[in-house]
Amino acid sequence: MTPSIRPADPARPGFVGEVEGIDIGRGITPAEAAAIEAGMDRYAVLVFRGQDIDDAQQLAFTRHFGPLETASGDIARPDQRRLGMEVNDISNLDREGRVLARDDRRRLFALGNMLWHSDSSFKPTPAKYSLLSARVIPGSGGNTEFADMRAAWDALDAETMALVRDLVCEHTQIHSRGTLGFTDFTEEERARWAPVPQRLVRRHPVTGRLSLFLSAHAGAIQGWPRPEALMLLRDLNEHATQRQFVHAHVWRPHDLVMWDNRVTMHRARRYPAEQMRDLHRTTVEDSAPTLQQAA
Ligand code: OGA
Ligand code: MN
Repeated sequence: MTPSIRPADPARPGFVGEVEGIDIGRGITPAEAAAIEAGMDRYAVLVFRGQDIDDAQQLAFTRHFGPLETASGDIARPDQRRLGMEVNDISNLDREGRVLARDDRRRLFALGNMLWHSDSSFKPTPAKYSLLSARVIPGSGGNTEFADMRAAWDALDAETMALVRDLVCEHTQIHSRGTLGFTDFTEEERARWAPVPQRLVRRHPVTGRLSLFLSAHAGAIQGWPRPEALMLLRDLNEHATQRQFVHAHVWRPHDLVMWDNRVTMHRARRYPAEQMRDLHRTTVEDSAPTLQQAA
């Protein structure tokens, strides 16, 4: 069956699509995967409602879209983790399923997801797609917001476009967490998450559209004085996250939302600290570091 995709956000009709006619748990055909991938190129975020799936079903679905990324950016050591290395634990739970204490290091690190970011921009090859499945959602708050970085690029003035077109940023999780006052990293973590270079402006390989590649992890611009770099990045982030570029996803249990990290940023929104929130993310790796991709 060919899935149908219709605009999910009337104010941003080209940004978010809602997919019908797909049962992720049953498995999909290559033709269905191709239709979804075409939908991802056309929109940048796709919403699938009513997908009551487990990790194995989510992984099988994700593998249709390319090689999986592992959760090597997680601060929890492998022996502390609740989920397998191919699933990112986007929850506030410990291995026993209890809500993490307010001052737990894993919780404080995870608060970084509330900063606007693009997944794994701190890895040499960043993420292409992220697929986030809602297992338990809190009673209030906890939306996920998405910003359209193609629209943000298109809306820049010509002078700013020329200024940023060929810039290269340095991305690291040490920077993004540092902006929240989280500096509690071991020497080993600092070495493992050393800065990686990423283009500031990317071209989508299929549509050819340009987009800003911003992320909370970007903490420097090559060749620029640090304060001037951070000020420009702050300015660009402010521009790119204006309301007209932003869609808020209000979660229902069993939603799966899939987004293209090459052309979007996203962030989690606040929710009550004592309530449970459990989402599982699988991630498809991009094809190469951004500097090796066509500008
Ligand atoms: C993620 C993420 C935001 C959220 O899964 O990569 O940033 O709302 N999630 O939990
Ligand atoms: Mn994320």
